[in-house]
Amino acid sequence: MDEAMGGADEAGHSIGDARRLLFGAVDGLILAQMVGAACEVGLADALGADELAPVGALAPRLGCDEWVLFRLVRALAAQGIFTIDAGRMVGHSEASRLLRRDDARSLAWFMRYWTMPSIWGAWGGLSHCVRTGAASFPVANGRGFFEHMDAHAEDHRVFSSLMSVGFAGRHAALAAGLSFADGEVVVDVGGGAGSLLREILLRNPGVRGVLYDLPSVVAGAGQYIDTEDLRARCVIEGGSFLERVPQGGTSYVLSWILHDWPDAGAIAILKAVRAAMAPGARLIVIEEVLAAEIGAGDAGTYVNDLNMLVLFGGSERTMAGFNALMAAAGFGDVTRIGNAGGMAVLEARGGDRVG
Ligand SMILES: C[S@@+](CC[C@H](N)C(=O)[O-])C[C@H]1O[C@@H](n2cnc3c(N)ncnc32)[C@H](O)[C@@H]1O
Repeated sequence: MDEAMGGADEAGHSIGDARRLLFGAVDGLILAQMVGAACEVGLADALGADELAPVGALAPRLGCDEWVLFRLVRALAAQGIFTIDAGRMVGHSEASRLLRRDDARSLAWFMRYWTMPSIWGAWGGLSHCVRTGAASFPVANGRGFFEHMDAHAEDHRVFSSLMSVGFAGRHAALAAGLSFADGEVVVDVGGGAGSLLREILLRNPGVRGVLYDLPSVVAGAGQYIDTEDLRARCVIEGGSFLERVPQGGTSYVLSWILHDWPDAGAIAILKAVRAAMAPGARLIVIEEVLAAEIGAGDAGTYVNDLNMLVLFGGSERTMAGFNALMAAAGFGDVTRIGNAGGMAVLEARGGDRVG
C-alpha cells in the first residue's frame, strides 16, 4: 500500500487505512475464488498423507493445466495457503490443511459453498436486493434457493455438506447446549440430513426423534441416522413445513430455519409447528439474535443478515423481531434460555392447537 497516501480525514482515520480497507475487500473477493478453485479441483486432498507432491504429477491427476495449476499454487502460497518450492513441489501450510475434507476442522465445504457460481452469482446481484427488497438468488439462478438445490445435485451436495459438517462441530456443540428429559420426542423441523438430530439422540439415549425436511433432503439421512439404535429411535419423514409438521413431539426444534424466510414465510412455518404441538410441548428456536442497539453486536451478524436477504429474501432478527413473529403465529413471548454452539437458544410454549 502506498505510504504517500497517508494523512488523515476529519474523523482522524488515516487515508492509508481507508484505502487499505477498500482494497482489502477486493483482495478478499479474489482470494476466496482462488481457494474455492483449489477446493473444487481437490488440491488439498490430493497431497495425501505425504503432504508433498510435484505440480507435474498433481496436474494430470486432478485434470488441470499444469502451468496454470502452478500459477494458482504460487499465488496461494504467497498468501500462506499451501507451499511451493523452486522445484515446484507443492506442500501443505497450516491454512491449506484446513481445506482437506478428512480434517475434522475442515473448511473445505465452507469455501466451496461460498465460491460456487450459484451463491457467488446471487451476491453479484446485491444491488437488486437493495432496489427491490427481494432476494437476488432467483434472479441469478432462475429459481428460488431450495428449488435450485433440489434440481442441482452438486450444489445440493455442497450445501448439505456445509450444513451437516461444514461448520466443524456446530451440531455437536448445539446438542451439548440443549437438554431433554428421558421419554421426550424431539422433532427437528427442517433438520436437513439429520446431523443435529443424530448428535441429540447420541447424547440422550432415552429420547426419540423425528427428522422432518423436504423429501429430497431426508433421502440422504442414512449417512447420519446410521446405526441400528439410531434407526430404532428415529422416524424420518419428508414434507414441507409450509404445509404441515408432524404431530406427537414434546420438543420442536427450528435450527437456522426462520432466518431463511421473510416474515410471511416464517409466520407460516411457526403456525404449522404450533398446529402440530400438543399443549405443553415446547418450541426451541436456534438462531443468531441481532442486538437491539445498532452496532452493539458482532459486525458479522449484519453480514449474515444481508446473506439471508441475498439468498432467500430472509433476515436475521432482534428479540423484538422474534417476538413479533411468535405473536403473529399465536405463540406467547419467546424466552432466551441460553446459548449453544455460538447461537441463541429461544424457547416458546405451545398452546392449544390452532386451525
Ligand atoms: C439453513 S438449513 C438448516 C438445516 C439445519 N436445521 C441446521 O441447523 O443445520 C434450512 C433447511 O430447511 C429445509 N427446508 C427448506 N424449505 C423447506 C420446506 N418447505 N419444508 C421443509 N424443510 C425445508 C432445507 O432443506 C434445509 O435443510
